[in-house]
Amino acid sequence: MDISPYATKEEAHIRLRFLEKEIARHNELYFIHDAPEISDDAFDSLVRERDVLRKELNIPEDTSIAPVVVSSLEKAEHTKRMYSLDKAHSEEELLAFITKLENEFGSLTYWVDVKLDGLAVELIYNNGILTKAITRGDGTIGEVVTHSVQTIYNIPKHLSNAPEYLEVRGEIILPKDVFQDVNMMQIQKGEKPFANPRNAASGTIRQLDARVAQQRALEFYAYNIGNTTGISFETQEQSMQYLAHLGFALPQGAQCLASARDIWNLYQTIVEQREGIPYETDGIVIKVNSFEIQEILGHTARSPRFALAMKFPARYAQTKILDIALHVGRTGIITPVAHLEPVEVAGVTVSKATLHNRDEIKAKDIRIGDYVLIKRAGDVIPYIVNSIPELRTIHSQPFIFPTHCPSCNSELSFSDKEVGVYCININCPAVAVQKCIHFISQAGFDIKGFGKQWVQTFYDKGILTTIVDIFSLSYDTIVHLEGMGHLSATNLLQSIESAKQHCTLPKLIYALGIRHVGEQTAKSLAKHFQNINAIARATQEELIEIHDIGVEVASSIHSFFQNQYNQELIQQLQEYGINPTEESKEDTLSNSLFAGKTIVFTGTLSLPRKTATQMVEELGAHVVSSISSKVDILIVGESAGSKLIKARALGIEVLDEQHFLDIYTTHKEQER
Ligand code: IVH
Repeated sequence: MDISPYATKEEAHIRLRFLEKEIARHNELYFIHDAPEISDDAFDSLVRERDVLRKELNIPEDTSIAPVVVSSLEKAEHTKRMYSLDKAHSEEELLAFITKLENEFGSLTYWVDVKLDGLAVELIYNNGILTKAITRGDGTIGEVVTHSVQTIYNIPKHLSNAPEYLEVRGEIILPKDVFQDVNMMQIQKGEKPFANPRNAASGTIRQLDARVAQQRALEFYAYNIGNTTGISFETQEQSMQYLAHLGFALPQGAQCLASARDIWNLYQTIVEQREGIPYETDGIVIKVNSFEIQEILGHTARSPRFALAMKFPARYAQTKILDIALHVGRTGIITPVAHLEPVEVAGVTVSKATLHNRDEIKAKDIRIGDYVLIKRAGDVIPYIVNSIPELRTIHSQPFIFPTHCPSCNSELSFSDKEVGVYCININCPAVAVQKCIHFISQAGFDIKGFGKQWVQTFYDKGILTTIVDIFSLSYDTIVHLEGMGHLSATNLLQSIESAKQHCTLPKLIYALGIRHVGEQTAKSLAKHFQNINAIARATQEELIEIHDIGVEVASSIHSFFQNQYNQELIQQLQEYGINPTEESKEDTLSNSLFAGKTIVFTGTLSLPRKTATQMVEELGAHVVSSISSKVDILIVGESAGSKLIKARALGIEVLDEQHFLDIYTTHKEQER
């Protein structure tokens, strides 16, 4: 980035004054209001720009002390300092840490757990009674937040057989799902939503009124013991087991490991599972297990020499928007996509991000040429969190949404009622190609080895105009296409034949690409109607009777089958022998405990969620994601959090994972 494009010294001074003010404002937003407007990366880039300008203008570094943060909470000193942690980002850095230690002390064991992204606090117990809670603050002095901490449900308030004095250190977090609810309430009350669960937890705990904390299901996870009298331990492991025995929850992954390889394997496993952990995490923490060696190693000015935080790859990054293009979907919906200067986020190079819709671009005032903050979470397509207007040039212009389809150039349909913009030309080439791509996808008709690029090529050559043409593809028409050849052509035709044999009714319904009909709804329709003609004949009223189909979905299904073009398409598919039916499983299912029930999963299951969902569906039930009074059963894995509390409050039946697996196995045995 060219950070000094100023024509005169005067201009550079103006920019510097602006940056100083902005940095102070963002500091206040972050530290006092728990409401940062920009990411840490964006903040760092402002600081970098300021430092370069100061150097160029010969202005000495600012050595004045930052203003003391004033809040009306009482302050208290920690009896033992609460340190920061040294950070590592690669396997090499982890190896260097372990090798240095083991060269000095020989083989060691390590206590490892996840690094929670919340608010660090110390809980003080006198004779087993929770008497005080102090935030980490600057490590030496923190704020007294006992009133709020007393409301946290998983903090023991009385300990039995406790030592005379005990300091328990750990992190207060707001579970991810509660965070969504809290922000919804903030918006409803006309207040600003929190930027992330950490800010929400901190903002909640530091309220003077404890009722705020009481309403938000905060949780506490212990990771260390401070000072104690009347009890001592030889290892971190012993001390953590003791805390667990007293009733404290420990961070996910907490265990003792004996080699860099085991630690690296655990790190990689947790990186993969990260999205499924109910609270935000930003790494794993590795501590030498022996307290004697911890003592010998001691601390640097800011962190212990015996511990290391292995940070997870950043899910946020800053980059520049090179262009905003329009993508045409299979329903004709137009999605704006930002083309980005490639940037690495969470180990993947990202060059495109979705902008969702026209309103989002307007609301966030995102422009071509903007520096933006992007986020990648799990397998979700990266999206733009916000732009950084401070880094705009004077030539920047708001984005004007195009009025015509980029594929067929017909006028786009903009409705006042819906945020979506559509291309409504039924002959739009982009829509036709996307419909075919959706039809052959794995969750749909599942034609193996039929790549997207072939769909486009066949369309461009005029061999494929609708999905029905897939079944009239012949060896002679495709074999001579560039890049095809005998083997690929034979394999593709075999794959189409095989998909025809194996296609089930739910997969065919999904493949048709009816608006609002996902895999789950397709399964419900198949189960209820058992063949495609029965669905096509169904009235809207009959469709609404199915448990997960509402008015909007029913109307979409109904109008799809009313459309003459679609009727002909289904008839043509049937002429090619594509007409699967669903067998009734009512008899065995009606005996199942789960038949017709609504299920929610929570916590970490030993099985992948997808497998567990399939098992539930085999038992005749269906899975939803959030707890409400409509839910019949909650199945809990390890480290269940707020959903479990809500379910108990609503009197919903709770089953642990093992119990569920037993029911499933018994049911399968009965079926045989
Ligand atoms: S151990 C002796 N373990 O990270 C080591 N800290 O960046 C003391 N943190 O201020 C800390 N999860 O608030 C430890 N599992 C964990 C942690 C953890 C989060 C926080 C802690 C500390 C900060 C340092």
